[in-house]
Amino acid sequence: MADKTYDYDVLVIGSGPGGYVAAIRAAQLGLKTACAESRETLGGTCLNVGCIPSKALLHASELYEEAHEGALEKFGIKLTGAKLDLDQMHAEKSKAVGELTGGIEFLFKKNKIDWLKGHAKFTGENTVEVDGKTVTAKDIVIATGSSVTPLPGVEIDNDKHQIVDSTGALALPKVPKHMVVIGGGVIGLELGSVWRRLGAEVTVVEYLDQILPGMDGDIRKEAAKIFKKQGFTIRTGTKVTGAETLKTKVKLTVEPAQGGDEELLEADCVLVSIGRRPNTEGLGVDAIGLELNERGQVPIDHEFRTTVPGVWAIGDVAPGLMLAHKAEDEGIAVAENIAGQVGIVNHDVIPSVVYTMPEIAGVGLTAEEAKEKGYTVKAGKFPMMANSRAKTNRDTDGFVKVIADAETDRVLGVHIIASLAGTMIAQAAQAMEFGATSEDIAYTCHAHPTHAEAVKEAAMAVQGKPIHI
Ligand code: FAD
Ligand code: NAI
Repeated sequence: MADKTYDYDVLVIGSGPGGYVAAIRAAQLGLKTACAESRETLGGTCLNVGCIPSKALLHASELYEEAHEGALEKFGIKLTGAKLDLDQMHAEKSKAVGELTGGIEFLFKKNKIDWLKGHAKFTGENTVEVDGKTVTAKDIVIATGSSVTPLPGVEIDNDKHQIVDSTGALALPKVPKHMVVIGGGVIGLELGSVWRRLGAEVTVVEYLDQILPGMDGDIRKEAAKIFKKQGFTIRTGTKVTGAETLKTKVKLTVEPAQGGDEELLEADCVLVSIGRRPNTEGLGVDAIGLELNERGQVPIDHEFRTTVPGVWAIGDVAPGLMLAHKAEDEGIAVAENIAGQVGIVNHDVIPSVVYTMPEIAGVGLTAEEAKEKGYTVKAGKFPMMANSRAKTNRDTDGFVKVIADAETDRVLGVHIIASLAGTMIAQAAQAMEFGATSEDIAYTCHAHPTHAEAVKEAAMAVQGKPIHI
């Protein structure tokens, strides 16, 4: 039952993986719950224009590439005449999105959560205005997510399909001849992979001297090597200084990041993917005296409380990794804390995955971070080339790297570049959550033949005793 003085016990603002999960758990715990969402459908960035549609296109484009390039011939499968029906590819993607966003609506009904349709804005203590209507709640969770960081001088116009953000790049009506991706991070490489597989020439322009910042150094080097082999042109240490949109082309001006001669790059489509920033515009944070940090995020404590009593924040709008599963886990924890239980997220063990081919996944500290933190690091590496299943499937790109504390053998991080890295990383995260040593992983029986055996062998390599290399 809601406290008599409020309309709801809990009001969640935003229905992304953070918000919808928080709302469901709050309702499961017996709290009267509402969720405000301004989008036409529930599920936030992740379900509508993020994780789900991007994975749909990654999957479909991978099938197309395999069918199209005769890659299956070595397995004795001859395919001819594979043709791209891009409209159908988009339709199948939209169908998956529709099923999943509809699924959240079903779960809201099942859990008796009110969906308040419209933009929510704080107007005072415990009070929010949604689409002109005032709603009160004892506890309010900000889960408003993030949107693309703009690049001054390179104006995004998704409708024209020439300079696009990730949302535009998920809906291009035809395959560009030349796509320039600004930013060699996760979005650039995933969506760059989609359009490269469908036939575009793709150039990645990255400001730093290497792609995939924040990842383990060995992985970054290997990834760049593999992406170049796949046909990506990667221009690191390069900045974009301006863009001119002509009728059918975009002219980009680029120059070395440290300064130097300007150069022109022509593209039919430019994808701006230089990071994302928290959504707080129009949220009325001033009305409740909520101050943002220097990165525009809502500062929180360990329990997801903001500095304003009764106001909590989770997901992309709060500090930390901008990942759907991190938002989901925070959603569960914040609801449990509101209900007086103990909700905890171990932010040291959040896996991250880039869904390119091969996939790239990591959890815990990179070798560089571990050294910076003063650990004496002992690392074990195992190449997928020596893994029997990868060899059988002819997908031997990549390796597994297990990083352990040389003194205690506790696993500090695991980093994988391999076709199934996203699946393989789960066991590493679980092992780390249980405080495993590399020996614990090395002595865990892994089914044969599986890609996951490479994790076991990399753990064995920490002690210098892998079997198969
Ligand atoms: P969001 O999902 O952004 O949801 C916030 C919601 O709040 C939005 O629907 C918005 O409309 C609503 N909202 C905002 N302000 C208001 C307001 N004032 N009133 C009412 N409603 C409001 N992460 C992964 O882990 N794996 C992936 O594979 C992955 N792929 C991605 C691919 C792309 C192209 C992009 C862009 C992102 C991807 N991400 C991925 C990141 C992931 O989408 C985000 O980390 C995740 O969605 C964050 O969840 P959230 O609940 O914090 O916010
Ligand atoms: P990102 O932070 O992953 O990468 C941005 C890249 O752009 C960095 O390499 C950065 O150095 C570079 N950059 C910044 N400014 C630049 C400039 N002016 N010129 C050239 N390069 C510049 O951000 P991205 O790819 O936009 O993704 C945003 C977030 O969305 C990710 O950090 C991730 O949290 C989430 N995401 C997660 C996915 C997943 O989990 N598989 C998939 C897609 C997005």
